[in-house]
Amino acid sequence: MLPSVYAPKDFKRLRAAGDVVARCFDFIAPNIRAGISTNDIDKMVAEWLRANGARSSTLGYQGFPKNVCTSVNDVIVHGIPSDQEILKDGDIVNLDMTVEYKGFHGDASRMFMIGNVSAAARKLVTVTHDALMAAIAVCAPGVPLSEIGKTIESVVLPHGFSVSRDFVGHGIGKVLHDEPQIYHFYDKRWDKVKMVPGLVFTIEPMINAGGDKCKIDPDGWTARTADGCLSAQWEHTIGITEDGAVIFTEKQFD
Ligand code: MF3
Ligand code: CO
Ligand code: CO
Repeated sequence: MLPSVYAPKDFKRLRAAGDVVARCFDFIAPNIRAGISTNDIDKMVAEWLRANGARSSTLGYQGFPKNVCTSVNDVIVHGIPSDQEILKDGDIVNLDMTVEYKGFHGDASRMFMIGNVSAAARKLVTVTHDALMAAIAVCAPGVPLSEIGKTIESVVLPHGFSVSRDFVGHGIGKVLHDEPQIYHFYDKRWDKVKMVPGLVFTIEPMINAGGDKCKIDPDGWTARTADGCLSAQWEHTIGITEDGAVIFTEKQFD
């Protein structure tokens, strides 16, 4: 049995944790603009989480030093917020926020476009979102996990984009990273593993405008495209229900 299979009463708590992520995003979103530093974003997130009884699951995770990952332009994932990094007109930035609330984790990332963004960058951001939502739409009991990667590839490859192969989605719940690994490209090994009601995991495709290869900065975290092309990512935490999937990291309560 996969470890990240949860009972209906746990789904309530996963909804509550995901709701915290969505509300924190909604709180910071109007402030994400040219002239602020990525560390300003980190401070906003830290303060909001503290005021709302939640904590960042990334702060201190395997030594990660900040509350949120901030991945600008060619950074694929795991950018570290910094006072020196100032957002400027035309940037695209991914904010990846993972919180623990009452013992359960929620994990989501969104793209933000700063000022006047090129048509090419805008298309990458939009197509990556389309790929995530299309993948969520195929999730249901009995569906092989390999359908996720297959669906993502069917959306992004026709545009000439590539799928980063170095990072995966993951089971999540009482711990941040759990089995199963979720591949964002087709891998036939996952044809055999079928989704079951109660399974909780993230889908978080990282899509590059050029090649799929990455390189890691000397800080040991920041993963960039090897060829310097733009990269985009969107992420949700979802749970498999009797007839489909529910997205936890959208606002759950009015
Ligand atoms: N939120 C990331 C994920 O999607 C986890 C980042 S771990 C960190 O899995 F240490 F880099 F923050
Ligand atoms: Co994440
Ligand atoms: Co994740």
